[in-house]
Amino acid sequence: MAKGTIADSAAWKKLQGHVEDINKTHLRDLLKDEKRCQGMIKEVDGIVFDYSRQRATAETVEGLLSLAQAAKLSEKIEAMWSGQRINETEDRAVLHVALRAPRDAEILCDGKNVVLEVWATLDKIKAFAERLRSGDWIGATGKPLTDVVAIGIGGSFLGPLFVHSALETDPSAQELSKGRSLRFLSNVDPVDASIALKGLSQETTLVVVVSKTFTTAETMLNARTCRTWITSKLGADAVSKHMIAVSTNLKLVKEFGIDPENAFAFWDWVGGRYSVTSAVGVLPLSLHYGFEKVEEFLQGTWSMDQHFRNTPLEKNLPVLLGLLSVWNVTFLGYPARAILPYSQALQKLAPHIQQVSMESNGKGVAIDGTRLPFEAGEIEFGEPGTNGQHSFYQLIHQGRTIPCDFIGSVKSQKPIYMIGEKVSNHDELMSNFFAQADALAYGKTREDLQAENVKESLVPHKVFTGNRPSLSILLPALNAYTVGQLLSLYENRIAVQGFVWGINSFDQWGVELGKSLATKVRSQLNEARTKDAPVQGFNYSTTYLLKHYLK
Ligand code: F6P
Repeated sequence: MAKGTIADSAAWKKLQGHVEDINKTHLRDLLKDEKRCQGMIKEVDGIVFDYSRQRATAETVEGLLSLAQAAKLSEKIEAMWSGQRINETEDRAVLHVALRAPRDAEILCDGKNVVLEVWATLDKIKAFAERLRSGDWIGATGKPLTDVVAIGIGGSFLGPLFVHSALETDPSAQELSKGRSLRFLSNVDPVDASIALKGLSQETTLVVVVSKTFTTAETMLNARTCRTWITSKLGADAVSKHMIAVSTNLKLVKEFGIDPENAFAFWDWVGGRYSVTSAVGVLPLSLHYGFEKVEEFLQGTWSMDQHFRNTPLEKNLPVLLGLLSVWNVTFLGYPARAILPYSQALQKLAPHIQQVSMESNGKGVAIDGTRLPFEAGEIEFGEPGTNGQHSFYQLIHQGRTIPCDFIGSVKSQKPIYMIGEKVSNHDELMSNFFAQADALAYGKTREDLQAENVKESLVPHKVFTGNRPSLSILLPALNAYTVGQLLSLYENRIAVQGFVWGINSFDQWGVELGKSLATKVRSQLNEARTKDAPVQGFNYSTTYLLKHYLK
């Protein structure tokens, strides 16, 4: 078969030509067209999406839908859902959507309905969480275990942390976690272990080792550190009561010394960064909040998954938003996206999406190995508003153009109304949510400034060019269900981007080189420390730095 990429398609070339048309427009004018705006505001299961502040017209969307067709997007989505091995370089299916399917659903992989296995694990998690939370599962000294430390890194950490951060201020979830604590240990930096274990007693702590492979150096070292922390106080036998695991590699779990009975499985068709709805996230979150609360989160993801699978492309939110991201990155040349939740509870959304997006789509070749003639992937970063406003928004308003995702909610998790204040604290927060999107779109002209009698020498500094795209997502409230919807929206949108770029969004070879070089350094450090061996085999710079470090 002849090699080529999506950039060879007529739809791609047409969109390239269309950039010139869009460059003649300004969002200030596009936003005057109410019919256009109406078509770009959609509601899905209670969430409002407004993409009228994207630098796009109906013609752009039409062109992007043709591109989707050229990229065989519908077929790729279907291939994913039907369990085909679309992660070709690892020869794996990509079925994280099956993790949130209801009990009676059927999703096949290799002729087997994987939903049955998913629910067998969910039932096991539910039973274990009930035992732990009721005090039926006790520690080595007979005390109930109230504190959980989840060890994991990357996908085995960021998603669960994101969901936990979103729920820990939700009143109903808070009620369910009274008297309990959930902490995460990810970095191999010993400082992280000291923070995670600070103030905890071994007698009341359960350590959950979360690792898909059970070989990740950082996680295994942290697991050994916690094992020593437990056994040094409670004796070797305490491991069976105080350590459990989540992994696809139950053999290694057993070798580590954790009873496979106390291990919770997942499958190679779940990518690490897509694993928060597997036992990776469901177990620690259920221990803390109870399984029923986590089930609400799974139901939210499933709702958006269903919209993604069953809605025609032109009305399909993850598809439309994925296509618009491709438009921004590849055609308009904006390589980054800022994720700006006007919600403190979503403070860990951007760090999670960083991995989902950048590990998925940061690729240089098409799925058949052809080097891409364009740059795929998107640089993700973000911070909750209003904090971000007082940090990096200057660059977004007057420096580089960075498409923004503004995320807000109608209701606050913690409303505060103060007598004498004109607005509630949440209204104050949301005033910024609404204002920022318009400030970016409209900007401020020289004429506006002159009408305000601004000193001429300051005028150039105070001009805002505007025409800076953004997307507004308005949730009814922030709770387990809507967090699930949001997660699924981002996961599927990122998959759409990868499908259109024609890359494999489900492998991550780019993380391997650094890992193997670290192995070489690790053995050198060991040789130097134990046998006083000289530093060798590195370039001048690394040799110099290593010698200085070892001095
Ligand atoms: O960073 C590389 C990676 O393989 C991620 O994809 C994964 O989420 C993370 O390491 C952790 O891997 P594991 O769950 O196997 O410990």
